[in-house]
Amino acid sequence: MRSKAAYFSIIVFSIALFSCGRYEEFKNSATENYPDAKMQKYAKYMIQGKQLYTTHCSNCHQENGDGLGKLFPPLAKADYMLADIPRTICGIKYGLKGQIEVNGQTYNQAMPALDRLSNLEIAEISTYIYNSWGNEKGMIEIKTIKESLSNCP
Ligand code: HEC
Repeated sequence: MRSKAAYFSIIVFSIALFSCGRYEEFKNSATENYPDAKMQKYAKYMIQGKQLYTTHCSNCHQENGDGLGKLFPPLAKADYMLADIPRTICGIKYGLKGQIEVNGQTYNQAMPALDRLSNLEIAEISTYIYNSWGNEKGMIEIKTIKESLSNCP
């Protein structure tokens, strides 16, 4: 009896929805929600990314992304980093060494590998550093991390 009543109310509800022309409205609101879901994911990456950055990166690159003197290069508006996202992803996972030039300044120290970070964590950190301190590269997806890591030098 219960399930019959349930069916009955579903039918009545559907008829009401269709007959009032509410169905279109209902359908449109469902599709409009999609960008919200994307924004929520972006917001989550930024929040998690900031935490991970504080734990794993800010000792050297500093909380404000300015780096530290001639030892640690800046990430804020850093031409080297902005020019190549896959290179940054490989650097986070496997470390970086050798002479590089960032915003006209030469650096030559080793950055340690952080190979225990998961692809999701690297995506969160990357999204955070590429969208903070004036950098505006948009969301960096796990898919991009996987692709980049399979092509590291
Ligand atoms: C122990 C200090 C240290 C830590 C921790 C560290 N880095 Fe670095 N990072 C460096 C050094 C030193 C270089 C320059 C390497 C070179 O000279 O080849 C560098 C270079 C870079 C570069 C490329 C240069 C630029 O400024 O554009 C990026 C991007 C970067 N680091 C991001 C990160 C991120 C993200 C984290 C955290 C996940 C991190 N680093 C953690 C020391 C560090």
